[in-house]
Amino acid sequence: MPLVSMRQLLDEAAKGGYGVGAFNVNDMEQIQAIMEAARETQSPVIIQASRGARAFAQDRYLYHLMLAASELYPEIPIAMHQDHGNSFETCKSAIELGFTSVMMDGSLKEDGKTPSSFEENVEVTKRVVEFAHARGVTVEGEIGVLGGIEDGHGAGGTGLEHVTDPDQAVEFAERTGVDALAIAIGTSHGAYKFTKKPDGSVLKMDILIDIHKRLPHTHLVMHGSSSVPKDLQAIVNQYGGKLKETWGVPIEEIQLGIRNGVRKVNVDTDNRLAITGAIRKVLWETPEKFDPRDYLKPARDAMKKVVAQRMKEFGQAGHAGDYKPISIEEMAKGYADGSLDPRPSMAGAR
Ligand code: G3H
Ligand code: 13P
Ligand code: ZN
Repeated sequence: MPLVSMRQLLDEAAKGGYGVGAFNVNDMEQIQAIMEAARETQSPVIIQASRGARAFAQDRYLYHLMLAASELYPEIPIAMHQDHGNSFETCKSAIELGFTSVMMDGSLKEDGKTPSSFEENVEVTKRVVEFAHARGVTVEGEIGVLGGIEDGHGAGGTGLEHVTDPDQAVEFAERTGVDALAIAIGTSHGAYKFTKKPDGSVLKMDILIDIHKRLPHTHLVMHGSSSVPKDLQAIVNQYGGKLKETWGVPIEEIQLGIRNGVRKVNVDTDNRLAITGAIRKVLWETPEKFDPRDYLKPARDAMKKVVAQRMKEFGQAGHAGDYKPISIEEMAKGYADGSLDPRPSMAGAR
């Protein structure tokens, strides 16, 4: 199966009332872990690469690994997505490489740290939408700013400093025509999201619900959605790690989001923890080992387990065979004739 447009994947998720995990990758083992989890659970899947991942793996390696995944798992619809594109050029190069979806994160300036103005965000995102849609490629934008800077994405702080204003979200979606919109409702990237167990009032679900009501055709995206499970933290620390006490986003909150328009759920940290814990365990228990396969195989298995669990929790499990992929060229026609336009003002064209 060729790589599928993320828009189609999310449209199908909206019809089915489920969410789709978007898992970050940097190497072959992570792609293998995701694909095995997708096969086991029969899930459509979004695989995403950050700018850092593209630099680490090199574009051509990454692209061919993705092609290998689509050849080896023909029954699984796969969208390949640029995570946190920081500029028009980053998104353009991803599209030229063969990504079927890009995020233009114009909520921050090109440095990935400094919040940008609303007008700057609209301008750069609109430019990306025009370029991408003409080629049938999906665009995710972001309005409001996530917390956390440990991964270089986010404005720092707790995640509640730049919560999305629903009026701005509506104006942003209308002026840019993005297919998917990441909103800031109190989550942050990385392992250190909350210093105590968050209750239902911590995340601004009321804002999410309001935005979904006003933008029913724009798919909502939750970044910073790792749950940072205690058992994964414990394994890392049991074998010499030094993680400080921390809490992530409870699965029930993500599921509440999914019932209210969240279609894409970004997870990276949980997989990082699973991989690191598994590698630490092998090296700690059998320090005489030095064949990388001795620790990369358990690491890959540990990531697969987390991904399969999330696929079931987000509801995408069992939906891989629901639909046939629409080619990128067909998607481009749908954008050109307005039938794929998600803006409230374009209701007549849909
Ligand atoms: O959004 C951030 C993802 O976890 C990717 O992080 O930029 O360190 O690859 P990265
Ligand atoms: P986590 O750090 O919570 O896994 O979030 C990942 C993310 O949002 C990638 O864009
Ligand atoms: Zn993110």
